Amino acid sequence: MTNYTYSCGVLTVSDKGSQGKRQDTSGPAIEEMVRAAGFSVTCSTLVPDEKEAIANVITEWTGQGIDLILTTGGTGLSPRDVTPDITRSLLDREIPGISEVMRQASLKKTPYAALSRSVSGIRKESLIINLPGSEKAATENLTAVLPILEHAIEKIKGSTVDCGNIPIPPS
Ligand code: MTE
Repeated sequence: MTNYTYSCGVLTVSDKGSQGKRQDTSGPAIEEMVRAAGFSVTCSTLVPDEKEAIANVITEWTGQGIDLILTTGGTGLSPRDVTPDITRSLLDREIPGISEVMRQASLKKTPYAALSRSVSGIRKESLIINLPGSEKAATENLTAVLPILEHAIEKIKGSTVDCGNIPIPPS
């Protein structure tokens, strides 16, 4: 990170976790990764797979100006998986490339990567990224894009840095 510690919110979306029927480990694992990358995790919470509950958290955190919002869970195909749908409805601008890169990298690990409907984009000045729900899937997906997030956030905030000269981040 350069001269600014970016804030990050981690939203776990899980029916079982919210009912106390499962200990969701993806949220804490994501938090550890982003802290190691220099982010400050300023908020984290867990909600059931309900559109309204997800929307409430995203609108609250984007209203607070959280720089990076990572959701984990609910990106798949089951009838209760609604995270990408409600996320997309809240975006001002979609960034298809971020989710495309995550799926592309994940396909090297498992063909089931194709089943994540993750979307990414911008609401206000927040970058929002959907990650799948298992710790393995969430961390593999985040690993694929973590190196490009600082530049993405700077651009969202209006940085005029010349993109032709920025160093390629280590993969
Ligand atoms: N991506 C990676 N890198 N590793 C994984 O193990 N699992 C997939 C996919 N993406 C996986 C992955 C599976 S099995 C599913 S069903 C989808 O993510 C959606 O997961 P979710 O419903 O928990 O969000």
